[in-house]
Amino acid sequence: MIHENYTVNEKGHLCVGGADCVLLAEKYGTPLYVLDEDMIRQRCRIYKAALKEAFGETALPFFASKSLSFLGIYRIIAEEGLGTDIVSPGELYTAKKAGFDMSKSCFHGNNKTDADIEFGVKSGVGYFVVDCEEELYALNDICGRLKKKQKILLRLTPGIDPHTFAAVRTGKVDSKFGSPIATGAAEKMLKKALALGNIKLCGYHCHIGSQIFECEPFCRAARIMASFSLDMKNKYGYEAEIINLGGGFGVRYTEADPEIDVFAYTKQIGDTLKEFCRENGMKVPTVFMEPGRGIVGAAGVTLYTVGSKKAIPRFRTYISIDGGMPDNPRYALYKSKYTALIANKADRACDCKYTVGGRCCESGDLIGEGMTMQNAERGDILAVLVTGAYNYSMASNYNRIPRPPIVLVSGGTDKLAVKRESYADLIKNEV
Ligand SMILES: Cc1ncc(COP(=O)(O)O)c(C=O)c1O
Repeated sequence: MIHENYTVNEKGHLCVGGADCVLLAEKYGTPLYVLDEDMIRQRCRIYKAALKEAFGETALPFFASKSLSFLGIYRIIAEEGLGTDIVSPGELYTAKKAGFDMSKSCFHGNNKTDADIEFGVKSGVGYFVVDCEEELYALNDICGRLKKKQKILLRLTPGIDPHTFAAVRTGKVDSKFGSPIATGAAEKMLKKALALGNIKLCGYHCHIGSQIFECEPFCRAARIMASFSLDMKNKYGYEAEIINLGGGFGVRYTEADPEIDVFAYTKQIGDTLKEFCRENGMKVPTVFMEPGRGIVGAAGVTLYTVGSKKAIPRFRTYISIDGGMPDNPRYALYKSKYTALIANKADRACDCKYTVGGRCCESGDLIGEGMTMQNAERGDILAVLVTGAYNYSMASNYNRIPRPPIVLVSGGTDKLAVKRESYADLIKNEV
């Protein structure tokens, strides 16, 4: 299987983290998100150790909680000693409610409202990642009113175009995120930040994109950020204490994807940064990174019940499931590829090919096309693997379909972490 936490038991059932997926589907119903808590913890430890080894003791991963946000995940992340990255007041609210130490958070967003800024400052957010000049002034004014000094990082666009989907490329000069180095906007923002009294500039941030399998774009980003820091040191006497290199390490969704060695990648990035600093007489900054899918992606499985099966001669065979784009919009959005199998027949040969359709009134409501798996029949449990990231957090109620629950499994036992939405939940705000 594509990840070691997926196994098949003596009944021929798919297991995740040692828990039998067929029994989980019976107990909690479908659709169902299952998360392997032990794997999430293991991934946290890998990222933490790898960053320290590559960049030194002060380095820290900040879990990108846009990939998965609910109370329980912030508790796990806190217990593992990571920081968190939040991108909205809703994520901030959830992290706070979970008791997360907000001094270990980075607050992102390319258009924070004044209300968002005030909420962040009052909540004791560790670092505002300031996207542009307007935010800088608004933050400075609000901090003045609240009599607080806020630590910030400046979000810079290094001008890198990694090989990934267009929708998840964020580090190019032409981007709605951050201030480009190449146009001079970054330098202008830095000068302003240094002059404002209610702000403490701590360094820079960049995020070049998501689902990136090459190490070289990250090394290039590190070099560009360090070189900007050197330039600013020479011009204005300001040297960044922190460089946050964002997230983006690719995750193996199908057999065709490679497995990233986090230790090897971070070492290469660390060596690049340290070499640049050594050659230019700079202090090596504290490095933060923001893995999202790298921590939770492979820990997740979504279980569905197969309904209809429709063979269209000379075209294809569709199977339909009781979920779809409302719980996983990634195929509809990006044509993201997944691996699927029939959980109750996991020991049989994968000799059928299906297009997996959801239950929405929408032709684009697909989980995948040409997916190879065991023969599917009505009532079977379909498992879609590697759905821990950007599934629950991107879920909607399109067609008034309630969101599925989340079950955490650890040491082979399961516990409910998020309840299934009810029909009453769907109308609870309606007057
Ligand atoms: C600023 C920032 N940091 C981190 C991430 C996490 O990326 P990934 O889940 O690919 O690691 C994202 C994703 O979009 C992001 O925008």
